[in-house]
Amino acid sequence: MEVVIAPAQELAVLAAEAIEALLRRRPQAVLGLATGSSPSQVYDELARRHTESGLSFAQARGFMLDEYVGLAADHPERYRNVIAADIAERVDWPADQVQGPDGLASDLSAACAAYERAIADAGGVDLQLLGIGTDGHIAFNEPGSSLASRTRIKTLTTQTRVDNARFFDGDVEQVPTHCLTQGLGTIMEARHLVLLATGRHKAEAVHQLVEGPVSALWPATVMQFHPHATVLVDEAAASRL
Ligand code: GLP
Repeated sequence: MEVVIAPAQELAVLAAEAIEALLRRRPQAVLGLATGSSPSQVYDELARRHTESGLSFAQARGFMLDEYVGLAADHPERYRNVIAADIAERVDWPADQVQGPDGLASDLSAACAAYERAIADAGGVDLQLLGIGTDGHIAFNEPGSSLASRTRIKTLTTQTRVDNARFFDGDVEQVPTHCLTQGLGTIMEARHLVLLATGRHKAEAVHQLVEGPVSALWPATVMQFHPHATVLVDEAAASRL
């Protein structure tokens, strides 16, 4: 595991550089997309590179990590809409080339299985962007998730719903109770994992991720087994290393 400690803006540039290098080498690359505040500066940097130096997503595929269950199709916090606004619509990325698990499907288990097949049919994810929850979750794999898990329905913990209430007018009651999420086993199949974490509130999760024993209690620790994992953290998030 490679750990880089730098100011947040530099971390975003490093992640964007890795994505740009991949897209220049392989325009039809498969990108794994994360939501949350951690990757937002990366998306800003990619949009800038699209405008200023013609970085193109026209042939790329994108697969999102996770999605809330039951949010209306036009809800701004539906992750599909968040990704559209944060990156896809700011660059030349055809909408049908970016997919997420379908949190509005009538058969959620079937939607999860279909999503796994779609990722496999695309040849797997080349580079997966990741954030980390304060409780050590990646995507929505909450503590206790099987390290071998696949895309499935999960119940969100109270901690995660409280953390994410800031996106729902500060009202935890508006945060959905369930989600669909790629499993830890699914995420581990991506060829390069790039995790970003900033701020002191992430310091314990980062400490466990890098130095803790591999355990389902801190789901991100499974990344210690990945042959190509890059952890990009600022001084505050690295303060317990
Ligand atoms: C959310 C998302 C994760 C994200 C994490 C951290 O619940 N499902 O994919 O990495 O929490 O979010 P943030 O980057 O906003 O701190």
